[in-house]
Amino acid sequence: MTDQYAVIGNPISHSLSPLIHRAFARQTGQDMDYDRLLAPVDAFASIARSFFAAEGRGLNVTVPFKLDAAALADQLTDRARAAGAVNTLVLGSDGRLLGDNTDGAGLVNDLTRQLRWPLEGQRILLLGAGGAARGVLQPLLAQLPEAIHIANRTAARAVQLAQRFPQGGRVTGGGLDDLPGPFNLVINASSASLSGEMPALPAAVISSDTRAYDMVYGAEPTVFMRWAADCGAETADGLGMLVAQAAESFFLWRGLHPQLAPVLSELRAGLKRNQTDEQN
Ligand code: ATR
Repeated sequence: MTDQYAVIGNPISHSLSPLIHRAFARQTGQDMDYDRLLAPVDAFASIARSFFAAEGRGLNVTVPFKLDAAALADQLTDRARAAGAVNTLVLGSDGRLLGDNTDGAGLVNDLTRQLRWPLEGQRILLLGAGGAARGVLQPLLAQLPEAIHIANRTAARAVQLAQRFPQGGRVTGGGLDDLPGPFNLVINASSASLSGEMPALPAAVISSDTRAYDMVYGAEPTVFMRWAADCGAETADGLGMLVAQAAESFFLWRGLHPQLAPVLSELRAGLKRNQTDEQN
């Protein structure tokens, strides 16, 4: 029987995960199906349990269920525990559900292997203090940056998040003004770009050798990327992170590392096509 996988969320119709995993499966010759699963907001656990009871092998989990998935898992990886959230569930041969979080590894992979932006010894500014920021902190720290400063609109949330990572004072937190810049790398993990907004940042965080990464993606550069480019930074969006986190999930399930570049180009072309269709 063909192995069954899915991405579960609410809403879910926009998810690119089926496109990505089907492309990985074609590329590596895996016999697997990958669908979208819409769960009512109060019924994540029962829908996920039914999926696994019906021989489902693995789930990706997206908004708003990443915390519910952490609660459902029988066992969590260290990085899922540090993230406080699960985006990948794997049914083990012993019937136990393993919860992992591949978002941070996806970000690190995109930064270091695809973009070839260094992390070791770098001064990093992380914008936002919600689930997205928390999810990537431990994998970023494992790359041994000199420091990570978390800046958030609500300063107290950034201070609290920094205190969860007491790594020799390398992680600090505060508000959006009065930042100890410039930084080598600025990562936007706030949800501001989703609503076309720009965190109120001073231009002094950017210098001529700063790189700026938005975890949000789209057919066009986000407002954060345009601002950073105007300040002189090299920029990238989060489409590569999306593909790379999917590849990490695929590896957990199938034990194979698919190639990312062809899938990324396919998605990028698809985003542009949809944009043209919308304009016509
Ligand atoms: P996620 O899981 O995507 O991180 P979240 O937990 O709701 O979502 O967190 C959203 C983050 O984006 C928060 O850090 C939020 O700042 P506040 O803690 O001050 O709310 C940040 N954010 C959202 N809109 C923003 C904006 N327009 N400017 C700056 N920060 C914004």
